[in-house]
Amino acid sequence: MRVSIIELKQMKQRGERIPMLTAYDYATAKLIDQAGVPLILVGDSLGMVVLGYESTIPVTMEEMLHHTKAVVRGTQRALIVGDMPFMTYHIRAGDALSNAARFIQEGGAQAVKLEGGERMAETVRQLVECGIPVMGHIGLTPQSIHQLGGFKVQGKTPEAATQLLKDAVALEQAGAFAIVLESVPAPLAKIITQKLGIPTIGIGAGPWCDGQVQVVSDLLGLFTDFVPKHAKQYAKLADIIGAAVRDYISEVKAGAFPTEKESYTLDESILAELK
Ligand code: KIV
Repeated sequence: MRVSIIELKQMKQRGERIPMLTAYDYATAKLIDQAGVPLILVGDSLGMVVLGYESTIPVTMEEMLHHTKAVVRGTQRALIVGDMPFMTYHIRAGDALSNAARFIQEGGAQAVKLEGGERMAETVRQLVECGIPVMGHIGLTPQSIHQLGGFKVQGKTPEAATQLLKDAVALEQAGAFAIVLESVPAPLAKIITQKLGIPTIGIGAGPWCDGQVQVVSDLLGLFTDFVPKHAKQYAKLADIIGAAVRDYISEVKAGAFPTEKESYTLDESILAELK
């Protein structure tokens, strides 16, 4: 059985921290799941760290579904959250519901995430009423990057901090099962976390959130175009991969790979016939 949204709420009630990671492919998702991460996000950060876009804005539903399916196939225990891409839950009434339904029905995810606070509360309510668990996302919302003027910490003025608190409460009241707080001052994230009955999942939001989410490519040191201040590299896979590939190149060039060990033999009689 996969982790449920009820278990996540119980973890908050017990004061048990929730580790969450992104994943985008079968093999990595399998390792993360087997390591015991209870909550996996197929984030639209896919666009930047896997597909090489400059932002998350070009990411499409088809790309998200393709990767969500792979992550679902690789996992057995974690609850999988599909990230709704830019403009797939805004334009026409009904878009949010039909696209969220695709994540659950076609993608095999158990929940969706969407960006925005008070202004998205009605949308969240509609999805939840139809049985789709929704994770909110407030603070730095990368899909609004042009409006925010860059990847900046949010909620630094009294007005902005008050709005973030209102956003969080509105999402909880609309039925969200958890809320990502991205790039929010730690003391403000603490106040929001104490105010809500549902878990807060921080990224660049300090140590007092109920859980933490990291982009797996940052955590593993795989994506090196830039390393956000809030990321911690628990490994340096880019260095390991670079060294392995350089070794491979020199062994192929030197004729040292493949050896007999990596080659297939042919029956002597067949060989004699051929000769
Ligand atoms: O797309 C993503 O990876 C995210 C996380 C940073 C929360 O939204």
